[in-house]
Order: sequence, then structure tokens, then C-alpha cells
Amino acid sequence: MTKFTYTTAEPELAPFHASFDAALSRVRSDCGCSYGGWVDGTPAGAGAPLRDVTPIDTRIELGSFAAAQPPDVDRAIRAARDAQRGWARTPWPERVATLRRAAALIRERKFDLAALMSLEVGKSRLEAMGDAEESADLIDYYCQQVEDEAGFAHEMARVTPIERNVDVLRPYGVFACIAPFNFPLALSTGMSAAALLAGNAVVYKPSEDAPWTGLKLFELYQHAGVPAGVFNYLVGRREEIGDYLWQHPGIDGVVFTGSKAVGLRIHHGVSTRWIKPCLMELGGKNACLVMPTADIDAAADGVMRSAFGLQNQKCSATSRVYVHGAVAAAFVECLLDKTRAMRIGDPTERDVFFGPVINQRAVARYERAVDQARRDGSILTGGCRLTDGALAHGWYVAPTVARLPADSTLFQEELFVPLLAVAHVSDFDEAIARTNAVEYGLTAGIFSADTFEIERFFDEVEAGVCYANKRSGATTGAWPGAQPFTGWKASGSTGKGGCGPYYVAQFMREQSRTVIGS
Ligand code: UN1
Repeated sequence: MTKFTYTTAEPELAPFHASFDAALSRVRSDCGCSYGGWVDGTPAGAGAPLRDVTPIDTRIELGSFAAAQPPDVDRAIRAARDAQRGWARTPWPERVATLRRAAALIRERKFDLAALMSLEVGKSRLEAMGDAEESADLIDYYCQQVEDEAGFAHEMARVTPIERNVDVLRPYGVFACIAPFNFPLALSTGMSAAALLAGNAVVYKPSEDAPWTGLKLFELYQHAGVPAGVFNYLVGRREEIGDYLWQHPGIDGVVFTGSKAVGLRIHHGVSTRWIKPCLMELGGKNACLVMPTADIDAAADGVMRSAFGLQNQKCSATSRVYVHGAVAAAFVECLLDKTRAMRIGDPTERDVFFGPVINQRAVARYERAVDQARRDGSILTGGCRLTDGALAHGWYVAPTVARLPADSTLFQEELFVPLLAVAHVSDFDEAIARTNAVEYGLTAGIFSADTFEIERFFDEVEAGVCYANKRSGATTGAWPGAQPFTGWKASGSTGKGGCGPYYVAQFMREQSRTVIGS
């Protein structure tokens, strides 16, 4: 079967869309049911149900999810602690085999998973399929990591002839895994699969905006043979259980993808009696530099795709452009043409590129940013809510490009809505200085034909994921095993990213074992 990534441009369209249509009608016919969390193989969630609606049309309820309360969290952590010991003792090749079965199940069900994500969070068909495929590849890549390291056990040097020294990595215990809405399967899978492969148990809380995809992940693990209690799934409101979960003394570590504000709060608050591991990927304000030698059409394509794919709701999205004055007019004209040509609408429909944003809060953030852009500079295209026809029932806003003075705060703050800020610069030095002047450091891109300039960009840019001349997405589309996804500065906590070769080991702690005697 064909594999789709975020950068697949021309899939075999007819069979892809036929399979997607069939999956979509299966998912639609499953809408409207009631679900709960799962702890230790039994239902959980004593609170008022959480309504899961589609951002495409908020009248449509996808499902209703019993919300977890603090006692549900207590039970989940207790179950995880009990189950973890057996899971850690399970030989690593068995853990790897179990997780590989989960990857195979994802591939088997990828059309249903993609259709569900398209409905639940408003992804286009190709973005949704990329998410499903990435999830399966993440698991396989992390399994490979454990195999390559032979379960992370190494024979060490002898200091005296009578000793034998072995170094092993061992799990911490129970990880809280707190996931965002934007890659509801891939980020949940990547974080949790690595924790599980390392021998930890997991208490998983999906985003309130994507509980159904989270439930599918629970079911996948269960069918793959992850034992009850090793992976627990709780749906909950942030104000009811969000803090309670990560502050719980029974948690040994936290893996989190989300905003910088929440990440910093967790990081500061989680280590009270001792220091606990805290693996975080925390947003970005990613810049793209367009230099005088750039292929302008490629640059405009790359920026358009990265700024407006998934409505800019990616940590990796391009949200700032620094374009050299010599090519600014040509670049902006080309970018505006491509932006205006984009198909906007119901993202479950074929060929729609741009769907709704996730919820009302995102619309409010967009409207606030647009107002500021009008005050600080000028809106070149977009700048309004979209309410024509069927769009009136969803969270639709226009893809927006604004020309702004480079000192506008819209170049600093992560917005996570489709507003692209463009500033003119006079040379490479100014472009790189402005790129590095923000607190985030996740992804960055450059379009240039000058190899010396590209080398300087890689050397000087303060970002973990860097691309040159990427037409399919100036700063987006990192893939497991190809582009480690590491946030520098305010964008991350450990300096080693998901999709990268050092990821699984971070869910483990080292133990050296010395035996004296023959
Ligand atoms: C995120 O938005 O948190 O590189 C991660 C990309 C995606 C990663 C997104 N693989 O665009």
C-alpha cells in the first residue's frame, strides 16, 4: 500500500480518495456514542461528560466522553504502578514485538484513523493520513532504537581484573503523557510508545479537543497486547485533572507537548521531593528567510504550505518571513497568489487544503492578532472570519498575510492561528539576528542558492530543526528517523527530540552493575 507523508504531493488519487470516502462514512456512522476513560482494563470517568464536536460544524457531536475526576487519576496511577513492575521485567524483545503489532494495526486502520482525525480536529485528507502514517513509523523507529542498543545494556571496562561491569538503562516507573490536539495520533503515539518501550507504564491524557482519536490509540495498544494497567487512558478537563495528574506524587516523569506557558509551569512544579524527568516540546515562532538568490516560486510554495497547512496549528509552522528587499515584491506577489488560490472549506472533502481552526478560543486569538496587525502594519490578504454558507457552523478564518514592521510583537508571540507576519530585511545578518531574537527555537527555513549562505544559516540559526530550499514545506514535515524534532530555548526541555536517535533513552535512567569475583 502507498505510504503518505506530510509532503506527499501527488498520491495515487483515485484509490486514495475512494478508501478515504469509505472510511469517512464508517466514522460518521459511529458518531454520537458515549465513551469513558480506561484504567486497568475497566471504564473510568465519574465527571460530567465532555462533548466532542467537530470544528467543521459544531452542531455535529462526534461523541460524549465521561470526564475523569481526581479519584480516577488516583486509581490510574495506582494501576500503572502495579502493572509497571511486570512490564519492566518483560524481556525487551517482547515489548518491542508488542509495540510493532501496534504499528501494524495503525497501518491496517490508517484510513479510518485519518478520517476520524480529519473530522475531529479539521485536518485535510493528506495531513490526516500523514499523521496516521507517522504514528506507525514512530513506533517502528523507536523499536529499532531499542534493538540497535540491544535493550540498552553495555559491557563496561574493568578497572581491576576481578570485577565485571555492566551498564544498563532502566525505566523510571510511571509517566504522565499529556498530548495536544494538533497531531492527535502521532504525538500521542510517539510520546507514549517511547515511554512504553523503555518499560514504563503510562497514564495518558489526550487533548480535550481530540478524545476520540486518543481512545483509538488506547484500543490499538490493547489489541496489540499491551497489558491492562500499563497504558491507561483518561479524558479530562484541564481545570479538573490537568494539574492534578502531573502533580501527583505517584508520577515518576512527565512527557508533554503543548504551550510554553503550560510546559514551564509543569517543569517548575513537578520536582518537589526530587528532580523528575520532564520531556517537553513547546511550540515555536518559526522563521523562513528568503534571500536574493532564492527560487521565488519554490519559496512561496514552501512558505504557503508551512504557514497554512493545518491552518498554522503546528509547532513547526512558518509564522514569520524575513525577505530580502531585493526580492520582496516578487516574493510577496507570488505568495499572495498561492494563498488566494488555496481551496478552503470542509477538510474532509477531497482537494480542500485549508479547514477550520480548532475552537472558539483559537478564533478569538486570531481576531485579536488580526486587529493588532491592522494597527501595526497592513493586512495583505485575509484578516476576517469566514461565515459563508456551510462555513458559518464551523471555526473558519481566512488565511492571512500581514506586512509588519520587524519590531511588532506579532513576530514574537506564538499564535497557533493562520496569520503570517512578513518583514523586509536588508541582508542576511539582519535576517538571522531577527530570527534568533525570539525566545523560541524549534524550526527554521531558508531559501537561497548560495551554498555559503546556507552553511552560515545552519551554523548561526538558534533552532533544532532546520531546512534549506524545502518547497514542500519551508519549516514543516519532519519525519521519524529523518528529522529529529528538537526544540531549543523556549521550544523544548531536553535538547534531544522525538523522531531522533536519542529519544527512547530519555525515558530511562542509568544503573551501573559491578560484580567482584570470578
Ligand atoms: C508539532 O506540531 O508539535 O514537522 C509537531 C512537522 C510535524 C511535527 C509537528 N512532524 O511538521
